[in-house]
Amino acid sequence: MFRPSASLVLLAWATSCAAQGVKNYGGSSSQRSIGSQLVPMISRTDPPFTIENMTCDFFTQPLNHFVPRGRSPSYEQRYCVFDDFATDNSTSPILFYVGNESPIENYINHTGLMWELAPKLKARVVFAEHRYEGKSLPNVTSDCLSYASIIQALADYAKILDELINPHNKAPVFVFGGSYGGMLAGWFRMKYPHLTAGAIAASAPSAGFPLPANDKIDWANRVLAAGLGKQYPPDDPTKQEPNECPNNLLAAFPLISWLAETKDGRDFLSKTFSLCDPLRDDGSSLLTWAQAVWFDLAEGSFPYASSYIPFGLLHKVVSLPPWPTQDACWKSSYLHKDWGVQFSGNRSDVRYGVAYGDSGLALDVDWDKVTSKSPASLSSITNSPQVIGLLTSVRDAVSIWYNITKDVKCYDVSQAAPNLEVSHSETMEFRKLREPSDPGKICQDAIHEMGSWGPLCCNDELNLPMTFARGLGADFFWPPSHPRSVKTYKDMAKSLKLAPCDDPDGIYGFSKEPYDLWSTMLEAQYGTGVNMDGHSNIIFSNGLLDPWSAGGVYAEHPWKDPPYTGPVVQEITDTDVIALIIEHGGHHTDLMYSSEVDPASVTKSREIQHKYISKWIKSFYEKAKGTSV
Ligand SMILES: *[C@@H]1O[C@H](CO)[C@@H](O)[C@H](O)[C@H]1NC(C)=O
Ligand SMILES: *[C@@H]1O[C@H](CO)[C@@H](O)[C@H](O)[C@H]1NC(C)=O
Ligand SMILES: *[C@@H]1O[C@H](CO)[C@@H](O)[C@H](O)[C@H]1NC(C)=O
Ligand SMILES: *[C@@H]1O[C@H](CO)[C@@H](O)[C@H](O)[C@H]1NC(C)=O
Ligand SMILES: *[C@@H]1O[C@H](CO)[C@@H](O)[C@H](O)[C@H]1NC(C)=O
Ligand SMILES: *[C@@H]1O[C@H](CO)[C@@H](O)[C@H](O)[C@H]1NC(C)=O
Repeated sequence: MFRPSASLVLLAWATSCAAQGVKNYGGSSSQRSIGSQLVPMISRTDPPFTIENMTCDFFTQPLNHFVPRGRSPSYEQRYCVFDDFATDNSTSPILFYVGNESPIENYINHTGLMWELAPKLKARVVFAEHRYEGKSLPNVTSDCLSYASIIQALADYAKILDELINPHNKAPVFVFGGSYGGMLAGWFRMKYPHLTAGAIAASAPSAGFPLPANDKIDWANRVLAAGLGKQYPPDDPTKQEPNECPNNLLAAFPLISWLAETKDGRDFLSKTFSLCDPLRDDGSSLLTWAQAVWFDLAEGSFPYASSYIPFGLLHKVVSLPPWPTQDACWKSSYLHKDWGVQFSGNRSDVRYGVAYGDSGLALDVDWDKVTSKSPASLSSITNSPQVIGLLTSVRDAVSIWYNITKDVKCYDVSQAAPNLEVSHSETMEFRKLREPSDPGKICQDAIHEMGSWGPLCCNDELNLPMTFARGLGADFFWPPSHPRSVKTYKDMAKSLKLAPCDDPDGIYGFSKEPYDLWSTMLEAQYGTGVNMDGHSNIIFSNGLLDPWSAGGVYAEHPWKDPPYTGPVVQEITDTDVIALIIEHGGHHTDLMYSSEVDPASVTKSREIQHKYISKWIKSFYEKAKGTSV
């Protein structure tokens, strides 16, 4: 979700597509070897509980909680309640989803953990929508996006709990959230401990801010590379077939760049990648396109087909296949196969040679430069079954995202996956909407088109550049995102061009200057996951297949010394702030419905969460009893 020159960092959360049929592999006779490994597809697009099953209403909130009463415009926040599992509407436990950057229906459909825990705990279920999402839209004509901020959203949840959902504080409330919602859940418990008995903060990259001390700038992409190196399915330890997927990708990218240097090379690439328009640039558009999806696929590492990530990014209910990263390599393409690629030299230094099988081509890569010393003719390369097999495999692998709707006729490389790169173009959207002649209309258009995320990133400078750094010798990306000299966030900061949110007329209400590259205000307000002293009852869960796990909150970082062999439950404090490590988890898989194909680590994580919540419920009632005596 992110990239150079974007200060707005989209917590890119999403992706999807279904397995493609076998493509023409350009004369190669490789066979698909995946038939026996088919995982049953469990559709999560048809959930047992939807918004139709809930009672929804609106609660009037001040748009600005932090000015004297009456000085702020108000807006109507949507919330939905389900009481059928509860035994008593005033004292039964409450499972409360703190909505994040999508309409509330998305979380109602996908947060199966709450729906499965509620009958066991005889709990009420409440989903509250994030301001500036779905139907919770303000109607104002100036400063219209300036109230999209974390602190305001948290105050919304506090107010609705305190005044409407649990007014006498007789019920233990557990806040749930995933991703940015996970940050909200953790921070809510930290800021409003009197209103909540505990938090499930799932896949919350709360420690992913660019703290100057954090030198692990490419951790997220290392997580990606580790996931890509796994078998299909990734939780099956009996599979021993060689997996060339990361090697093939690392070899394909400099090859694309080198081929794009000539017209004939570009024509070959355009044909091989089924491009709608002939490639005209130096290959960088194709490289961006072919590299942008992997993060989204890895986030979506669920063991069943899921529309969760695609909906988050595309706002379309379309599904990615089970284990999308592995599907891309093993099912939708032959990218795991040996295409004759041979490396020499030092890959961790990004100074290496690559030979391309039967084509006779050998390239030298030195950081971002690629040269050829081999005498191979272009026709021997473009007719090489191994080169064709390699490149068509890359195409077919990324098609699981780009052809997720299965009706795409050809590929448009200007439409890269909605990930980091997109956050930058979102800032462009702000510009496009600017029509100073009618501020009221601008505000309404902006609120409807932007939602909460872009504005939130502007207002809170939610900088999570942890996914920017890649290709530095530890993953499968090329070219490197930064010069060789860049080793730390401090170095990176020099090359980070902050793109301020464009608002010269002050209609949106954004700050005119970006000023908080290090997210120091977030650190001051929330500790950004580093110092948990004084806090209690928070579970920070993270799946090790999810690149966001690099920014998670831990006692001991699982990516410090991979592969992680430490405990599943890490105690961060002795007051039940814990990190929960889910070996085969994607982006908050633990929040999803359980399924017969769940890896053991996911099942286990939900049991642990159940155990902790039961314990916290017990102590809430004991304390309530004690104080009432
Ligand atoms: C939620 O599920 C319902 C029922 O399957 C479906 O109609 C709706 O499109 C889904 N919405 C989202 C956002 O997933
Ligand atoms: C949810 O509502 C739908 C439509 O009214 C109904 O068919 C379904 O049985 C309900 N689900 C549950 C679990 O009650
Ligand atoms: C809880 O409140 C709902 C209305 O919100 C009502 O239908 C239900 O009967 C109540 N249940 C109990 C156990 O009081
Ligand atoms: C917004 O408020 C204006 C003025 O109060 C009103 O005319 C308009 O209908 C409202 N728009 C929406 C979408 O509620
Ligand atoms: C490869 O490069 C890395 C990083 O510069 C260096 O630490 C390592 O010693 C090199 N390995 C070899 C075999 O030269
Ligand atoms: C997209 O998928 C459909 C259905 O599998 C297929 O017919 C079509 O050729 C694919 N598009 C491309 C560009 O490969």
